Amino acid sequence: MSAPDPQASPRALIQARNLAIGYGGSALLEHLDFEVPEGGITAILGGSGTGKSTLIKTLAGLLAPISGSLELHAEARRPGLRPGAPNFGMVFQAGALLGSLTLLQNVALPLQRWTDLPPAAIELEARAKLRLVGLSGFENHPVDALSGGMRKRAGVARGLALDPPLLFLDEPSAGLDPHTMAELDRLLIALNASLGITMVLVTHELASLFRIADHALLLEREARGIIARGAPRELSERREDLRVLRFFHPDEAFELEASDLHSGRASSPSCGPLLDDLP
Ligand SMILES: Nc1ncnc2c1ncn2[C@@H]1O[C@H](COP(=O)(O)OP(=O)(O)O)[C@@H](O)[C@H]1O
Ligand SMILES: [Mg+2]
Repeated sequence: MSAPDPQASPRALIQARNLAIGYGGSALLEHLDFEVPEGGITAILGGSGTGKSTLIKTLAGLLAPISGSLELHAEARRPGLRPGAPNFGMVFQAGALLGSLTLLQNVALPLQRWTDLPPAAIELEARAKLRLVGLSGFENHPVDALSGGMRKRAGVARGLALDPPLLFLDEPSAGLDPHTMAELDRLLIALNASLGITMVLVTHELASLFRIADHALLLEREARGIIARGAPRELSERREDLRVLRFFHPDEAFELEASDLHSGRASSPSCGPLLDDLP
């Protein structure tokens, strides 16, 4: 085999073609075409209720697509996983840690479920994952006794338990103060660089987005799809597109729309459903 060409663009770990997703056969988002490059950090952006979590759940196979094609080319990195083991890690929006268990027990759960390792080896591995996220010394703390930032780190440690090539994170920064958020971002960047793990994350936090993501997909509910994509900084400069401006510079978009409204130039589609409700 020839050596990989360092100039070549990374291969796609996820490939979606004409994908439609939603619940009960009714599509929230459709005609989704995108790729997630291996080794990168891809952000999924959009307002509340757009379908970001739905998309993450569909990518992770927790929800079946309505139509279209979705391919994951992520191969497990560790041998000896039981059949059916996920080839990705997942950090859920609400943490989804078991509050009554200790940190170590929470991180050990995927290893108990999907490997044949003896308990002592599982404990060693779980300790190593906690060390990776800076939680050494807290192994025996109940999750309920931890701060928000520590819980997020614990969720990441559990997501990494099976050494997956791909990690999904649904709003990892939600509810964190700016300092704790920046610390979590530093951790994610370090894990991405040191483990080469590909990340797909949902975020609302622009500061965090600019720090960590190299590629972003902006979703919109009205368009039922992707309305913009690219590097976050580049996207934030696309001021000519009101829908993009609304996400990255809501104050500017508000002023623009308010002045349009006063001068009678408002077009109701660009002002969204709120204006449609006016008498
Ligand atoms: N299990 C479900 N069954 C039916 N509708 C759902 C379900 N989960 C979420 N929804 C709806 O799908 C829409 C998108 O939800 P979600 O993907 O959670 O949005 P986001 O993460 O962008 O805020 C919302 O209108 C929500 O009410
Ligand atoms: Mg969500």
